Amino acid sequence: MSSNSLEDRHVAVLGGSSGIGLATARLLSARGARVTIGGRNPERLRAAAEHVGERAQTRQLDAEELDSLRRFFDESGPLTDLVVTVTRRGGAGPATKMCEADLLGAFAGKTVPHLRAVALAVPTLAEHGSITLVTAGSAQSALPGTAALAAVNGALEAAVAPLAVELAPRRVNAVSPGVIETAWWDEFPEDARREAFATFAERAPVARNGRAHDVALAIAALVENGFITGVVLPCDGGLRLT
Ligand SMILES: NC(=O)c1ccc[n+]([C@@H]2O[C@H](COP(=O)([O-])OP(=O)(O)OC[C@H]3O[C@@H](n4cnc5c(N)ncnc54)[C@H](OP(=O)(O)O)[C@@H]3O)[C@@H](O)[C@H]2O)c1
Repeated sequence: MSSNSLEDRHVAVLGGSSGIGLATARLLSARGARVTIGGRNPERLRAAAEHVGERAQTRQLDAEELDSLRRFFDESGPLTDLVVTVTRRGGAGPATKMCEADLLGAFAGKTVPHLRAVALAVPTLAEHGSITLVTAGSAQSALPGTAALAAVNGALEAAVAPLAVELAPRRVNAVSPGVIETAWWDEFPEDARREAFATFAERAPVARNGRAHDVALAIAALVENGFITGVVLPCDGGLRLT
């Protein structure tokens, strides 16, 4: 594939100022796309713009706020493609210990913003374009302590097929990452994080955890391939098979 295969594309990456979203913005930009990055923290956005380079612009956005999302699409369009990675951090723990605020917050921080972003992006999204959501391998696993994460991400994965048919000819897909070493894990105490990384790396058939760039490559494949729609693509080093 040529290095400028996405030259005529304008991709919005919601959550593009860190981790998987940032790696995706950088990769798509390197392949020739114009990229608009949305996130809340202005310093992170500034750093992301520098990291991605001159084909990137940033817009402050709180994807949990309906008006903020509306403004983002009004001011960013027209777009060819949308990638959504936003989430609240945290959300793991025993189901019996989960308080009401955490449970509702898990959906408010990911499921609702992703589905709203899809709906609000459509009027400004090219018919030949694509939408790629980033879900999570917990939705297809049976890991104790991940019921809420599995539900939040499973709801999005269930929405992919109906959206792909409803919004056609636009394509709608999801990438479902396994354990990826990003700042998402900063919520965990250092010892617990190290232990989790070591355990998952040992368990994964590829014998390592993922890097943000691994997931960016999977997202880019779905953005670029005009014949794939309605799929949830695992990018987890085979962890779901163990
Ligand atoms: N890392 C993993 O092991 C892993 C595994 C499975 C699935 N995933 C999924 O992959 C996605 C990306 O995760 P990551 O590891 O890249 O996390 P991350 O490093 O924490 O990045 C999250 C990004 O989303 C933005 N964001 C969060 N809430 C937002 C909001 N309300 N409005 C706008 N932007 C918001 C953050 O910027 P601001 O905070 O500045 O807004 C940041 O740019 C998430 O959906 C996560 O569930 C990650």
